[in-house]
Amino acid sequence: MPEIARLILDGKTYELPVLTGTEGEKAVDIRRLREESGYITLDDGYGNTGSCQSAITFIDGDQGILRYRGYDIQELAEHSTFIETAWLLIYGELPTVEQAEGFSALLTEQAMLHTDTLHHFEGFPEHAPPMAILSAMLNVMACQHPELLKIENEAQLLMGSAKIISKVRTIAAFAYRKSKGLPFNDPHPDYKYCGNFLHMMFSIPYHHYEVHPDIERALNLFMILHADHEQNCSTSTVRIVGSARTNLFTSVSAGVCALWGPLHGGANVEVVQMLDEIVKTGKNPREFIERAKDKSSGFKLSGFGHRVYKNFDPRARILKASVEKVLKIVGIRDKSLEVAMQMEDLALKDPYFIERKLYPNVDFYSGILLRAIGIPADMFTVMFAIGRTPGWISNWKELLDQGGRINRPRQIYTGKTLRPYVGREDR
Ligand code: SDX
Repeated sequence: MPEIARLILDGKTYELPVLTGTEGEKAVDIRRLREESGYITLDDGYGNTGSCQSAITFIDGDQGILRYRGYDIQELAEHSTFIETAWLLIYGELPTVEQAEGFSALLTEQAMLHTDTLHHFEGFPEHAPPMAILSAMLNVMACQHPELLKIENEAQLLMGSAKIISKVRTIAAFAYRKSKGLPFNDPHPDYKYCGNFLHMMFSIPYHHYEVHPDIERALNLFMILHADHEQNCSTSTVRIVGSARTNLFTSVSAGVCALWGPLHGGANVEVVQMLDEIVKTGKNPREFIERAKDKSSGFKLSGFGHRVYKNFDPRARILKASVEKVLKIVGIRDKSLEVAMQMEDLALKDPYFIERKLYPNVDFYSGILLRAIGIPADMFTVMFAIGRTPGWISNWKELLDQGGRINRPRQIYTGKTLRPYVGREDR
């Protein structure tokens, strides 16, 4: 017997189908509600709204579980590479040896930027935010590839995905080099994805950056942990834009724009700035906790809280362990890690945070890890964007495969009712 929910409105009963996901999640299907009753549902911030059915990522926020295509994040973090994970997200299965080698070779082939696009970097001022450069350059790619504006077969999907996944890393590195007034480093065909990024960032003429395998591994880990997170703000943005059948480059560019915000991917920068302020000024971390609890302050403790996780964000735990390891390898004692752990400890004992189930999220420790690798703070959110790119692509692909309708929420109008036009002299 299919499960049915009953809703009574104005004395009339409406039967609404109940859907159950493969992990037992339940949803009341209201797709015909307005047509049948004239009512819509209202859900500010979409906290209770399923915008799609998806087979890509599963999160159980109460248990702190995250899985990509059924694989636990802890296992992927231990055994996979970013590129293998990217394939998994887009195509649904781990790649065979042949597929992995082919994809890796394609990414290497696609790493360079078309020389016609390089002059765009001259137009950006040195202080241009790298997120703005990345979103702009993704649209430049749309200009460059008219043959991929409509993706109608597997070969086009593979090429479009490879171009974006490979080139976001080159664009990010070039944005950094531009900000430092340094010459661009062409990608090196002998390096793998993360090693090549580090080379493009840090090699200088006559001084080749030595890619330390543990650092390369830590960067892979960072990317894997950021690769997808179901219907977060930026991925939902990609799906909304893509639902208008907007091309892949532009849809991903929209995702970059959404990610930039401090409540989303931009939080990793804010966390490190806060920790640095504490280290520099000797302020007590408790001061920040108290400010976050005071609603009139408008201040939120960056890197804490999550719409879905009401238990530990599993990514934060993995990142914390990795930070400690990388700091040992590079031989740096970063005081901000000590402050972060102190802050976590204080927050987790505080009734305000306990009652609201606010735990460290992915952004709390990621900045400290990136800094240990040598990545400057203004690149942190771009690093998140590089990691999230396969997730955006896989969601865009799934949306198109599902052939769904254009995304178009309703609203409850609360403005003025009809009134006559007032001439300028009477206003
Ligand atoms: C990411 O969605 C995703 O999956 C995102 C992400 C991904 O991988 O894509 O995981 C990446 O964006 C991580 C989050 C990064 N942002 C921050 O760290 C910014 C600080 N955190 C928040 O502002 C906040 O927690 C959000 C934006 C992350 C979530 O906002 P919600 O879902 O609207 O928060 P909520 O409704 O669960 O809040 C419940 C209560 C509220 O208080 P009351 O009104 O009940 O009294 O907790 C309070 C909130 O004001 N609260 C905080 C807080 N976060 C929530 N209070 C102080 N500091 C905080 N950080």
